[in-house]
Order: sequence, then structure tokens, then C-alpha cells
Amino acid sequence: MSKHYNWAILGCGNIAGKFAADLALLPNARLYAAASRSIEKATMFASTHRFEKAYGSYEEMVSDPAVDVVYIATPHSQHRDHALLCLGHRKAVLCEKAFAINSREVGEMLATARANDCFLMEAFWTRFQPSFMKALEIIRSGELGALKMMRSDFAFKGEYKPEKRLFNVQLGGGSLLDIGIYPIFMSLMAFGIPSEIQTMASFCPTGAEETILMSFRYPGGQMASLASSVASFSPTQAEFWFENGFMRLNRQFNAPTSITMAYKKEAERTITFDKGLGSGYELEAAHVMACLDAGKIESELMPLSISSDLMEILDMVRDDAGIRFPGHDV
Ligand SMILES: NC(=O)c1ccc[n+]([C@@H]2O[C@H](COP(=O)([O-])OP(=O)(O)OC[C@H]3O[C@@H](n4cnc5c(N)ncnc54)[C@H](OP(=O)(O)O)[C@@H]3O)[C@@H](O)[C@H]2O)c1
Repeated sequence: MSKHYNWAILGCGNIAGKFAADLALLPNARLYAAASRSIEKATMFASTHRFEKAYGSYEEMVSDPAVDVVYIATPHSQHRDHALLCLGHRKAVLCEKAFAINSREVGEMLATARANDCFLMEAFWTRFQPSFMKALEIIRSGELGALKMMRSDFAFKGEYKPEKRLFNVQLGGGSLLDIGIYPIFMSLMAFGIPSEIQTMASFCPTGAEETILMSFRYPGGQMASLASSVASFSPTQAEFWFENGFMRLNRQFNAPTSITMAYKKEAERTITFDKGLGSGYELEAAHVMACLDAGKIESELMPLSISSDLMEILDMVRDDAGIRFPGHDV
């Protein structure tokens, strides 16, 4: 029988609620503590999601020896500090994407996890979706020939509120780290790190990037065309062009979805997947506990090298597009 793990949530915002609802579906996860900067908010979150304890500060929560694993759900700009806080108390950490603001911060997180012999993983939930796993299998199998090109987009119209996370440069706001990271993740998994990057971006009055177009070229000559925006809606798909056909992860490609593919000019066929237990966040949480059961400090499916490579590409894109976060420059 597998061990039970006491989970704590650090930051009781939007995604924390969705994650907690999925965590509750896992028999080996104990919903133990909710931590917020405000005790009222922590108490409300704990009561809504049936966590046993509520803490009015993150520091108090990490000082609780009963906490095994912490899910960090704060803005990107805070991930490095919060990960270091948890790892310093020898807690296993599952930290939301974007993993941090830049490669320097990611490097500090990796070094601290290794120095403390502690589990650390980026909460890149797409990596664990059966649809994504199947897409990767198709790419790697070569059944459609060599992959030459990919195209992916992620956009939604965010309500413009200058102080909100999405538009606040102090918090790493803009489309890139929030949703542009998904098309970039797809390109990384398909092709690796690009040798050439060209971007074009537009900005909102706060200075946060609003829309970005990205063209990548790889050493083998393959290319990727990627885009994200918080100013409009897009199909939110990922297309892969092979020598002998195409494959598309359908809308919303980053979440549980279906795959449409065709060999050469033959008719399309669509592969569907059973709906999981929850919204899809339970898969990454279950994976964390399987890693802990096996005594691992790093996931083989979502290793820290992927998080480092992803941030390296984000830094390259930011540099080319002139995206600045005060105090966190590339
Ligand atoms: N995997 C996914 O599908 C997914 C979806 C959405 C977001 N995310 C990621 O999750 C993270 C949080 O996003 P969210 O949409 O949940 O944000 P959110 O609703 O704004 O919540 C963030 C929480 O962080 C805490 N916080 C700590 N320091 C803060 C500060 N200086 N300013 C503002 N809040 C601060 C707050 O919690 P307390 O007040 O309780 O301390 C706040 O409620 C982001 O990194 C985002 O990329 C992932």
C-alpha cells in the first residue's frame, strides 16, 4: 500500500482552488494545510476544500513538520523565493509554471533542491495528459516521417486590470510566461532548443507584453511558428507537420484533449481519450507521490533539465522582444 502524503497549498488564488479539487480525488493525498498571506483567506480556502489546517503566513506553514509536500501557486515572480523557503525546510515542492522569472532563478532553485536532497518539479500539467503523451509517442515513432515544422497558439482575452497578475510587470505579467509558455513547451519537446529566434511583440500601457509572435529555427533546419496573446481568443491548438502527414492536438492542446491526424492526403482520423477523474491536475499530483514513493528527488517525466531548457528559451524570447520585469532582468 502506498504511503499517504500531507499536502499544503502555498497561495490560495485561482489555480490553487482547481488543483485542490483534483487533489481531493487521490486516495493517498491528505489535504492537510492551506497557507495564505491572510488567515481569513486561508481559513476560507481550507473550509471550502476541506483542508485540516489554515495558516496565515507561508513561513508558519513550512515550519509545520507534518507537511510533506507543498504546491506553490503564487505569481511567477514569487516562485523562486517560495520554492527556496519550502526547500530550506526540506519540503518536497511542486511549483507552478512558469517555474520562475529567469534562468538565474531556476538555477538557484535547482541548486537548493539538490543541496537539500529534496524533490522539486515544475507543475507542467500538460506533460502528464494522455493526449500529450500520445502525441509525443507519434512524433518519436516516426510513423508520419520526419517532423519538419510546428505551429501553435494560445490566446484569450484577459480583462484589463493594471494591478492584476496578468498585466503587472512586477509579477511577471504578460502572455509569455502565463500562456506563451505552452506553445514553447510543445516546441521544446518536439525539437529542443532553437538556434535562431525572431519575435514581434505588442505591449499594454503597464508595459506588460500583450501579444507575441515567435519564429524559431533549429540546427536541423526545422522551424516553429508560435504565438500567444491576452488581447484576443485563438484556437489554442498545436499542429505538427511531418514529411508524410500531419497531427494536431486539438483545442485546448495544453489540457486533456483529442488528436487529429492524417497520413499524406488520406482522410483525417481523430483519437479521443477517456475523461479522467478530474480536470487533469490530479495526474501531476499523483506523479509527484509516485516519485516520492520511489524515493526520487526528481521526476523522469518532467526532469529539471526540461524546466531549465524551457526557461532558457523564455529568456531568449524576452531578450529578443524587449520584455522586461523590473528587478528580474534576463
Ligand atoms: N497549470 C495551470 O493550468 C495554471 C493555470 C493558471 C495559473 N497557473 C499558474 O499559477 C500561478 C498563480 O496563478 P493564479 O491565476 O492562481 O494567480 P492568482 O489567482 O493571482 O493567485 C496567486 C496567489 O498568490 C499569492 N501571492 C503571493 N504573493 C503575491 C503577490 N505579491 N501578489 C499577488 N499574489 C500573491 C496570493 O495568495 P494569498 O493571498 O493566499 O497569499 C494569490 O492569491 C501562476 O504562476 C500561473 O502561471 C497555472
